[in-house]
Amino acid sequence: MKSIDSAINIDDLKRMAKRRLPKIMFDFIEGGVEDEVGLRTNANAFRDARLVPRYYIDTSKREQRATLFGRTYASPFGIAPTGMAGAFRKDAELFLAQAANDADVPYLMSGAANASMEQAAKLAPKNLWYQIYGARDRSFQLDLVKRAKDLGLSTIAVTCDVPVSSNRERNRRNGFVRPLRMTLPTILEAMLHPEWVVTYFRSGGLPMLGNWQRYAAPGSTPDQVADLFAKQTPDPSQTWRDLEAIREAWPGTLLLKGVMHPEDARIATGLGVDGLIVSNHGARQLDMMPSPLDMLPMIRAAVGPDVPLLLDSGVRRGSDIVAALCMGADFILTGRATLYGATAGGLEGVKKAVSILQREIDLVLGQIGAPNLAALGPHYLLETVRAEEERRNSGAMTLRR
Ligand SMILES: Cc1cc2nc3c(=O)[nH]c(=O)nc-3n(C[C@H](O)[C@H](O)[C@H](O)COP(=O)(O)O)c2cc1C
Repeated sequence: MKSIDSAINIDDLKRMAKRRLPKIMFDFIEGGVEDEVGLRTNANAFRDARLVPRYYIDTSKREQRATLFGRTYASPFGIAPTGMAGAFRKDAELFLAQAANDADVPYLMSGAANASMEQAAKLAPKNLWYQIYGARDRSFQLDLVKRAKDLGLSTIAVTCDVPVSSNRERNRRNGFVRPLRMTLPTILEAMLHPEWVVTYFRSGGLPMLGNWQRYAAPGSTPDQVADLFAKQTPDPSQTWRDLEAIREAWPGTLLLKGVMHPEDARIATGLGVDGLIVSNHGARQLDMMPSPLDMLPMIRAAVGPDVPLLLDSGVRRGSDIVAALCMGADFILTGRATLYGATAGGLEGVKKAVSILQREIDLVLGQIGAPNLAALGPHYLLETVRAEEERRNSGAMTLRR
């Protein structure tokens, strides 16, 4: 296995993660839904973005610190929730929490994490956020809110974009379903990844859903806890009323994750949600969704300039982060990018992913002539420059005529 140090970009970490994991596991991270059009939609939205640099601006001292809800972080991005990360690398969530703490960026822990929020809060007391899935029995979601409150977390996010389970065909083909139905070819392929297989079986198979363990009967196995979780979520009967109830129960910063329609953005902010995560869940829900980047200007227009907008889905480069900030996002989350790091190299891997993105952001700021994030804006986007020049040039043409 190549050392993590040799990774020069997120794609390198992805290749290392892929080598380490059996296909059934890597496909769970990497996969989209159905024809996986959405994965391309997300990637292409960033590939189509164009930044027009300005020169002869002193960028010798570049600064990427970003302030969100009154708290200044080291960078304008944090770590998105990814469930079952502990299955890809034992204790992955603890590495994500530790790396977020050390780098001073936020870590939004998944409601389907294998570690618990109580464990992660010890490692990242000032950087831990918690993500909640609505449950059929509402007392679960309210108890999770209470636990986050008791721990003194600053921020929770409610994920709204999983009303029903999605059609992840890679998982179905591989037998990554409940109960796990591994086919013979899947088992044989897994044997090519002995390090993962040995650790997996030594630690007792599929890991516990750490935040749900206490809701199952004492002594329940990870499988029994997963059964409880699967019976409770997703819950297609959740409505805005449930979000209101969470708003009433939660005094801290409340984010709604998965908002894509401008009207939903208006309703959510009207109900007192503090910020929105514009996201299509990394193209893991509805394959036909547009990219969050494409929806961002409409959502910004719907909620006005003052509501913090976070964005995720498809971010693999520092330049993606800078482009999203120019387009109106206030903060970015990375899902797979940091998960590849955790999978490939544990704590060192997450640190590497974070430092790669930080370095790339720093370079792009230097390249476009922006000494800090306040200097970013739509004036760096090709569309804006083109529209502005067309406006000026058409004036000049009129004068000549
Ligand atoms: C393996 C995996 C598990 C995920 N689990 C969750 C989850 O438990 N809760 C949630 O809100 N989003 C979950 N997501 C979505 C991410 O939070 C995020 O929206 C998405 O990964 C962003 O896209 P990207 O991976 O292209 O960066 C998951 C994503 C992946 C890849």
